[in-house]
Amino acid sequence: MRDITKMERIGAHSHIHGLGLDERLEPRANSQGMVGQGTARKAAGMILKMVQEGRIAGRAILFAGPPSTGKTAIAMGMAQTLGPDVPFTMIAASEVFSLSMSKTEALTQAFRRSIGVRIKEETEIIEGEVVEIQIDRSLTGATKTGKLTVKTTDMETIYDLGSKMIDALSKEKVLAGDVIVIDKTSGKISKLGRSFARSRDYDAMGADTKFVQCPEGEIQKRKEVVHTVSLHEIDVINSRTQGFLALFAGDTGEIKPELRNQIDTKVAEWREEGKAEIIPGVLFIDEVHMLDIECFSFLNRALENELAPLVIMASNRGMARIRGTKFRSPHGLPVDLLDRMLIVSTKPYIDEDVEQIIQIRCQEEDVTLSPDAAKVLTSLALETTLRYALNLISCAQIVARKRKSEQVEPDDLKRAYSYFMDEKRSVQWIKEQQGALVFEEAEVAQNDVMDTT
Ligand SMILES: Nc1ncnc2c1ncn2[C@@H]1O[C@H](COP(=O)(O)OP(=O)(O)OP(=O)(O)O)[C@@H](O)[C@H]1O
Ligand SMILES: [Mg+2]
Repeated sequence: MRDITKMERIGAHSHIHGLGLDERLEPRANSQGMVGQGTARKAAGMILKMVQEGRIAGRAILFAGPPSTGKTAIAMGMAQTLGPDVPFTMIAASEVFSLSMSKTEALTQAFRRSIGVRIKEETEIIEGEVVEIQIDRSLTGATKTGKLTVKTTDMETIYDLGSKMIDALSKEKVLAGDVIVIDKTSGKISKLGRSFARSRDYDAMGADTKFVQCPEGEIQKRKEVVHTVSLHEIDVINSRTQGFLALFAGDTGEIKPELRNQIDTKVAEWREEGKAEIIPGVLFIDEVHMLDIECFSFLNRALENELAPLVIMASNRGMARIRGTKFRSPHGLPVDLLDRMLIVSTKPYIDEDVEQIIQIRCQEEDVTLSPDAAKVLTSLALETTLRYALNLISCAQIVARKRKSEQVEPDDLKRAYSYFMDEKRSVQWIKEQQGALVFEEAEVAQNDVMDTT
């Protein structure tokens, strides 16, 4: 029988649930889906700590290391460790090159998405236990008026009800004996539960009825509500050409710099009045070597802005050409940018780590490997790449299912291995074809010329 509860698709990083660190930020060997890579995980944990304390802004961190050493995985783990209030934005550098907006605009939006503004608002509420609801209908039934009696342990008040409030009360099925909260600005009514005083009317309620105390003190209270939005959301909502619907469409277009300046001034005012608080978040730019020289110089400048988030980047390049120039530089990034960053390196995995990552992925994908197959796959991962081996898991499962087995054996892996090539074998195969493929003569030198355009 097909398992119908597990219909979610499984992504490459869906096994990662955090960084797997203990309270002292020491990496646990295998926790929250994370294995090995201790130094980098610890570094990531320290960075998060600084972000959560709100102490640093405008810093940049680079995760540098060979492909499939867990750079993106660590970033995903960081995102899950940050609180729900702290914005985390993840972009791939190539997303910046879009037709609908300039590169710098795309980067600015990404920056502003990563800065949260926690806004405090005071609202008036009415909170109390309903004593009585009395509704008078006019003769035709077209208009309704009524009275609502609410009490706390200290006082009792009668409010006049209009037809809107009456509808809202009946929609929430409010009865005498309920403890309710009415937001005076929006008129929203919510039921907190039944009053304990009424707990003896047991015939009138279901098993899931929640009992609460009758509130004390004043019926009308001031209450502070807090919500967090990003600077980018404030920009979009206030941009006359876009309007807030653009937030849902995701099609926000370019936003004028004057508007952004106005918003920054407004937010600064709110901060001074104590109405708002800035929460610097995290912007993760994956594959950062795909940015070009203009973007890099923009980053240099943007990082110095007071409202800059923590920027984390990842690159798997060694010495590489800086896009848009003829120059080569470490990680494909200009030295002046590198100079501003802290660099964390991720190292290739040792055997045990690889074995455990494979096990975790098998659990995640619901695949059973026989002990022999696990050994084969581990040595395969070391020989080729970790990603290739992880990709083979689901292929081998299909092969195993074809012979009506739920367990993957070394033979299934062997077949999957023969169907799908890894990079090394593919290169070998191209060599063997000796020019039969299209565009093969393109020289390295020519490639270089194309790169700089
Ligand atoms: N320490 C780890 N613990 C658990 N799973 C990991 C770990 N490191 C990597 N993985 C998994 O291995 C796969 C490859 O890792 P990832 O995509 O993070 O590599 P990367 O460093 O970003 O590579 P690239 O430079 O090619 O982008 C992913 O499925 C990832 O979730
Ligand atoms: Mg990656």
